[in-house]
Amino acid sequence: MKTQVAIIGAGPAGLLLGHLLRADGIEAIVIERQSPDYVLGRIRAGVLETVTTGLMTKLGIDGRMNAEGLIEAAFNLASNDRLIRIDITALTGKHVTVYGQTELTRDLMEAAEARDLPVVYEAKDLAIHDIEGAAPFVTFVKDGAAQRIEADFIAGCDGFHGPSRKAIPAAAVREYEREYPFGWLGILADVPPCHDELIYANTDAGFALASMRSRARSRYYIQVPLTDRIEDWSEDRLWDQLSARFDPLSRHGVTRGPALEMSIAPLRSYVFETMRHGRLFLAGDSAHIVPPTGAKGLNLAASDVAYLSDALIAHYASGDDAPLEAYQGKALARIWKAERFSWYLTKLMHRFPEDGAFEHRMQAAELDYVAGSQAMQTAIAENYVGLPL
Ligand code: FAD
Ligand code: DHB
Repeated sequence: MKTQVAIIGAGPAGLLLGHLLRADGIEAIVIERQSPDYVLGRIRAGVLETVTTGLMTKLGIDGRMNAEGLIEAAFNLASNDRLIRIDITALTGKHVTVYGQTELTRDLMEAAEARDLPVVYEAKDLAIHDIEGAAPFVTFVKDGAAQRIEADFIAGCDGFHGPSRKAIPAAAVREYEREYPFGWLGILADVPPCHDELIYANTDAGFALASMRSRARSRYYIQVPLTDRIEDWSEDRLWDQLSARFDPLSRHGVTRGPALEMSIAPLRSYVFETMRHGRLFLAGDSAHIVPPTGAKGLNLAASDVAYLSDALIAHYASGDDAPLEAYQGKALARIWKAERFSWYLTKLMHRFPEDGAFEHRMQAAELDYVAGSQAMQTAIAENYVGLPL
């Protein structure tokens, strides 16, 4: 089989890229290792920047997002029992939208057939070949049969653990990493949120986040040591922790309910600067990871894909390869700023095991400064809503 762009991975990056290319008449095939149900079972991001919602609108796949997404004009930072409201709309004129990654992915999956975007699910043993030559191709096994797809370009949208990044020879690699000594334990439950806006809380017991998916579905996270396993946490133990942290801070208090999902995710900052090698282009988590504080991961995947789709469209429309040459530099400029913001907010809001009383005082002083400084609040708000493309 032959196509113009072979896209590896049907997460938000791969599906968005596929739709953006198809909307311009470019042939693309998305190849995914998992089943659709598995992809939709991964509970992840919840906060979308206007860059991301704007792409859905450009594609005309925004009906459900507009109907069900919650417009958030503000969020809160908390320093123990003190709430600091960051009024992002007053400070920047913009807002973010609360709409789950699962829902966005479902909308993109459901629109694929009608828009003639083929998605191959349950593709096993995928391998990438000849990216340095003029005729790269992808091989995989589907239903026991070996498949081969030849393409002009390969887009590696296969997340942090996918094969694309690993297909780039070691001599060409430039990468930067920082791991954090804790993870986030998350719970999703059909109970009303404790507060009408998100709260990122720095408490003596550690970081906690109160988020939501709708007015009837809550999403909470707390900081846990990397050594904790999900079996160490009963639902009751987690709800006790959440109540202790958010009852004093929130308008409605924490309502408990059965967990729809509970999981632990480690925190990491990672940038793989070699986002292009020959005819392979990386986008999304395959090239970078941010710690989730600040909600940048999915939104960065969307901005990468905005740049990459424009560059591929220019190539096919006019043979102009300058945008493809510029892709890595343009994407990295935005990625590093989002990395900085996520790292900054992670350091400001978490309890690091190596920190002592002095560092805790520094965090409290900085949060006190934020509370009294419109300049600081503006800097935080403009990063939170997302820097311009
Ligand atoms: P992925 O979503 O990882 O998709 C990659 C796809 O490639 C997967 O479907 C995978 O199955 C497939 N794949 C992998 N290997 C292969 C293979 N060999 N062959 C074929 N396919 C393959 N981001 C935000 O912006 N806001 C948030 O609020 C936020 N909260 C988060 C909370 C948590 C707990 C976590 C874990 C992440 C959060 N993120 C958030 C980050 C966000 O979820 C990711 O950045 C986003 O999923 C990246 O999309 P992607 O398409 O690049 O990668
Ligand atoms: C959610 C996740 C985040 O990482 C974040 O910063 C805000 C909200 C969420 O899952 O709702």
